[in-house]
Amino acid sequence: MGIEIAGIKMKNPVMVASGTFGFGEEYSELYDLNRLGAIVTKSVTLLPREGNPPPRIVETPAGMLNSIGLQNDGLKVFLEKHLPYLSKFTVPVIVNVAGETLDEYVDVVKALSKENRVDGIELNISCPNVKKGCMAFGIDPKLTEELVKAAKKASKKPIIVKLSPNVTDITVIAKAAEKAGADALSLINTIMGMAIDIKTKKPKLAMITGGLSGPAIKPIAVRMVWQVAQAVKVPVIGIGGIMTAEDAYEFMLAGASAVQVGTANFVDIESPLKIIEGLKKYI
Ligand code: SIN
Repeated sequence: MGIEIAGIKMKNPVMVASGTFGFGEEYSELYDLNRLGAIVTKSVTLLPREGNPPPRIVETPAGMLNSIGLQNDGLKVFLEKHLPYLSKFTVPVIVNVAGETLDEYVDVVKALSKENRVDGIELNISCPNVKKGCMAFGIDPKLTEELVKAAKKASKKPIIVKLSPNVTDITVIAKAAEKAGADALSLINTIMGMAIDIKTKKPKLAMITGGLSGPAIKPIAVRMVWQVAQAVKVPVIGIGGIMTAEDAYEFMLAGASAVQVGTANFVDIESPLKIIEGLKKYI
């Protein structure tokens, strides 16, 4: 079950996806985090962010929409509080990084690069819920290349680039990230969606639109993983509606070397563990 991706050694190929696992602390009371392949943290930005106003999560058929808006405590608190907490465990820690500008990404990447307990960095160029930065980088191959190049220059840690499905051809962005030196690619982040309450005639999310995740997006994610795996040589990490070991294996058959479990964490806290166990039958 062991695997090495972008130089990061993992016990198994099942990680928990950014934004669905906080910084691990709450989940650590429920099971041993060391059983996971890796933890991908909630996005860390240079400064603290309050995120978007509520309501910012809504359940939809076979999925959910979120418009969190990258709420997090910022780099300083991450380094002083969250990273030391994670240091109690041996599970690899991959820190998801987001920003409004190239310089903001670079500052965070530089600081994280000095930390022993950080095993890798996942560049979030795909959050659809903020007005500046993030997905603006991930839908433009030139900006993707510039950002990944700058992050690679600033980092001694492996750089995984998390891609957006909100593009016409995801392989163009994947190739741009690879050309700039990405060590691995993770995909997909959420698909932009919207829901309206027909009683109030108002959008269900305060920000009107949000990112769709969960089983509803799985066929799209499998298709994109399959396309990207053929277009690049770097390892691909599959994400998108993985609820069971069979889902995870489907992503592997499409070309993923590993997977991330996201929305399933909200349905069944132990789903990543069940997926690890179940995958043993297939791998
Ligand atoms: C959010 O914080 O709005 C979600 C993060 C993401 O989609 O990357």
